[in-house]
Amino acid sequence: MGLGHALKGRRLTEGTVRRPRWCRQAARMLQVALLVTLLPHGTVEAAWRAPVHGERAVVASAHPLATRAGELALAAGGNAADAAVAMSFAIAVTEPWGSGLGGGAFVVSVINGKVETFDMREMAPASATRDMFVVDGKVEKGASISTGRASGVPGLVRGMVEFHKAHGSLPLAQVLAPAISFARDGMVVSEHMHRAIAGKADYLNDAGRRVFLRADGSAPKPGSILVQADLGKTLERIAATAGEDFYTGTTAKALVAAVNAEGGAWTMADLAGYVVKRRAPVMGTYRGYTVASMGPPSSGGLLLVQMLKVLERFDLHGLGFGSAAYSHKLAEAMKRAFAMRAKGLGDPDFVAVDRKRFIGDAATKAIGDAVAAAETSTPASAISEVTVKPKESTHTSHFGVLMANGDAVGCTQTINLRFGSGKIAAGTGVVLNNEMDDFSALPGSPNAFGLIGDEGNAVAAKKRPLSSMTPTIVLRDGKAVGVFGSPGGSRIITTTLQSILNVIDHKMNVSEALGAPRIHHQWYPEHLFYEHRGLSPDTITKLDALGQQPKELSGTMGNAMALWRVGPTRLSGAADPRGEGAAGAL
Ligand code: GLY
Repeated sequence: MGLGHALKGRRLTEGTVRRPRWCRQAARMLQVALLVTLLPHGTVEAAWRAPVHGERAVVASAHPLATRAGELALAAGGNAADAAVAMSFAIAVTEPWGSGLGGGAFVVSVINGKVETFDMREMAPASATRDMFVVDGKVEKGASISTGRASGVPGLVRGMVEFHKAHGSLPLAQVLAPAISFARDGMVVSEHMHRAIAGKADYLNDAGRRVFLRADGSAPKPGSILVQADLGKTLERIAATAGEDFYTGTTAKALVAAVNAEGGAWTMADLAGYVVKRRAPVMGTYRGYTVASMGPPSSGGLLLVQMLKVLERFDLHGLGFGSAAYSHKLAEAMKRAFAMRAKGLGDPDFVAVDRKRFIGDAATKAIGDAVAAAETSTPASAISEVTVKPKESTHTSHFGVLMANGDAVGCTQTINLRFGSGKIAAGTGVVLNNEMDDFSALPGSPNAFGLIGDEGNAVAAKKRPLSSMTPTIVLRDGKAVGVFGSPGGSRIITTTLQSILNVIDHKMNVSEALGAPRIHHQWYPEHLFYEHRGLSPDTITKLDALGQQPKELSGTMGNAMALWRVGPTRLSGAADPRGEGAAGAL
């Protein structure tokens, strides 16, 4: 029960309240006191000031409270899996527009030297059909984004519970406790959260407006307290039933009702039948390191490892970070990788993915030869004849854990676009995803990120849509030494690539690596995108002369996290200065 309302003898229910100043200060102090008491050795700093350093572990996430949740698990004697699961549920509460219980995730882990990946991606319901978003031969506008049909069956809850069962050491209820507290007792609204909610106020359904907006329809002000009481109860039921309630119980019934009320067609069997898959990780090498990333249904790992293998032959450090020559090389590697993404990728349970075509030695050598020979920009049409228009969006959330013992977890989780479909299932606090938009509604036409796919990514019952999420672990001698990843749709892959290059090639510390400006090329449209002031004017002129058609992005790119071992017992961590995240250390 919230302090302010309790004192007035009223029960605090859902939504936001503007409490008196003394009350807000007291709530803030209580929250801080609780965390500090429980965590005597933790240090969370704004990562853009400097990397944080730890002897035992480092963690980083897109919200300081989620980072705290990871630290709390570790401080209580938990391992990398405990910390990761605690952060997963905590970020679902503290960054509800980016990911959550109503969505999916990919986890890459290294535990006792064994690399594993867990596919918790949303799955199309049994009622899904190839043409469910097509009317008169055209894609039905908005149907795969903001209707009940937009949501895939969520996998995050069952996935995290299974991952915890496989590798966790603390009781699940203990790991979930911080997330439950943030939802039930409330959290302080940051300016970032205020803006995220305000930007989507009109997109939310009535249940969502009750949770996230004030009575007058405005977004909660920075400094006010956001309570997600129903979400807290849903999390409590997950803790009490090891996730079963979410798939077969009270929550499941509410989810099915909400989706179907908005024009979807889910059944209880869809939820009960959700299966977490362990996939073969995508493995590669780069300058003496081993790289482990997520395989299909993510395109991320294959594209990342391909680009690393292609770029390895070039002296990237010598070309100079940010130079025209360096940006040109990256652009040529990126456009070839994205051109390949459009063909032959999809859920590996439905389409045979030829990994060698992407990352086999012969394939990467041929692509490397082509990149080396490309003295000027290779036109996109010389790679393939398709034109698409991009759309941009920030969404999704990445977090990581790196331990001195060589264990690590990288996780990227999502509900797709900001606030997913905008539909919150009444009585649950669960934001439903719009991951069905990641399918190729009409093979050959673009999705919300301007990405195109072929038949391999066509909609089908019980199929998982192609993703770009790229949680990645870098290893040396069988032990994890780095964890990388980011949100950002198609830019996830190029953001993660540049985070890794910045650390390994350019010898940046993790804060510098994340703060450095980024570039992006996704084959179509034919532009080399760069962040504001990310390239100097004379560099832009040179890239223009090379035919790369540089174009400034309308916003920033990614919200990456980076963890890196700088010594046997010295681990460093940072969160992207573009977001409000934080790294923590023990
Ligand atoms: N929904 C974005 C992705 O999975 O890449």
